Amino acid sequence: MTDVTELLAQAAARPARTRRLTVVGCGYLGVVHSAAMALIGHEVVGVDVDAAKVALLSSGRAPFFEPGLDELLAAALATGRLRFTTSYDDAVPGTEVAFLCVGTPQQQGSNAADLSYVHGAMDELVSRLTGPYLVVGKSTVPVGTAEQLRDRVAGSHGGQVRVAWNPEFLREGFAVQDTLAPDRVVVGVDRASDADEIAEVYAPVLAQGMPFVVVDLATAQLVKNAANAFLATKISFINAMAELCEATGADVVALADAIGHDARIGRRFLQAGLGFGGGCLPKDLRGFMARADELGVDQALDFLRDVDEINLRRRRRAVEVTTELLGGSVAGARIAVLGAAFKPDSDDIRDSPALDVAATLFELGAAVRVHDPKALDNARRSRPGPDYVDDVLDACRDADAVLHLTEWREYRDLDPVALGEVVAHRRLLDGRNALDAAAFVAAGWDVRALGRPNAGRAPLPS
Ligand code: UGA
Repeated sequence: MTDVTELLAQAAARPARTRRLTVVGCGYLGVVHSAAMALIGHEVVGVDVDAAKVALLSSGRAPFFEPGLDELLAAALATGRLRFTTSYDDAVPGTEVAFLCVGTPQQQGSNAADLSYVHGAMDELVSRLTGPYLVVGKSTVPVGTAEQLRDRVAGSHGGQVRVAWNPEFLREGFAVQDTLAPDRVVVGVDRASDADEIAEVYAPVLAQGMPFVVVDLATAQLVKNAANAFLATKISFINAMAELCEATGADVVALADAIGHDARIGRRFLQAGLGFGGGCLPKDLRGFMARADELGVDQALDFLRDVDEINLRRRRRAVEVTTELLGGSVAGARIAVLGAAFKPDSDDIRDSPALDVAATLFELGAAVRVHDPKALDNARRSRPGPDYVDDVLDACRDADAVLHLTEWREYRDLDPVALGEVVAHRRLLDGRNALDAAAFVAAGWDVRALGRPNAGRAPLPS
């Protein structure tokens, strides 16, 4: 990761022409965006309905763990240009550009996205209109949402409120870097002058020379849907290959390395294992299919059903392999699970594959102890049942099997010999293909991995 202090210093050294911005929604996206916009010179008010979150943010504390965010928040608050509020009456007057950063969760009982927060935020904004301004949507929405918002406000506030879409591509764990130094900025607009205005807001960021892609509203929304669908497809592709490897004795890691050398394919996002989770890829994939259905082009995205299914199959496979490792039954076994977050460098447990597997094993009667460097509190609240343990060796003490399910760096540093001394049985499932399987085998462990039936076994004879 690029050094955060350096990134912050560079961003602050290229001030924008100050504008008055309102950022609606102080989740991942909104908090990082508000702080970044203040740092580059804008007057920013972040608004959120959650009073506890607003109080935390106002005191300079992030409501979630994200590397570099505390530093970014501190630097932004120190400029005096950033504040947070629960009141739209307080936030909206004087706004020149408003960013919509609210959530679009999956609807209960359906694949479609719940757009009530997006529409609600728009209503709050326009009902307090004091002059013309640009509303820039950043939330991930089904294509057509921006046009719907635009047409809805055109009736009541003709000409006063313009709508643009500026999808966000930030990754949790890299949110600060992806916001201050994104690999591209995409904007969807009805007229070129709106793109010029957004370019001015982002001028200090764009000065680094990344592409600024100006398209129509529909394309901008689709770009985001397509990007996440492609990333999910890439992961499920390699996990489908893992199934073939399991059936043939081949090694999916070597396979990914070999195909990844082809620049047209690329090695990134070909990390086979337990698959994708989190608050974005799974629900965005499903929302995209639901929208294609509505548009009458469901066949175009039919393959995403397989992408989703392959992904969920990996979680079931992890439970199967654990059962095999334990000699046929998990009931009564003591299982240590390393990792609860959906990915390393995050405390986010939304749709976490690791936690899903831990909870399934618990339901099957295992005594499950889960460790995670950052996500234990969230995990405990969301999935009561397993024990949540602060110390990784304590979690593994007397375990009949250890499952490595989220690839935090600190797990890679575990010494197989020392770990072998605290467990009851040296049995390991590396669900992320990130540990040194050969070192574990050498230390006497029975090692299983997903897509690598011979992980860590002797190399080919000469
Ligand atoms: C994802 C996208 O990568 C971002 O570009 C996008 O902005 C974001 O969703 C969003 O829509 O807000 P994020 O959810 O933070 O970002 O996480 P990713 O890094 O994409 O990882 C998603 C999941 O895929 C994780 O569970 C990770 O462990 C898994 N993964 C990733 C794999 O199983 N294999 C890989 O090779 C890569």
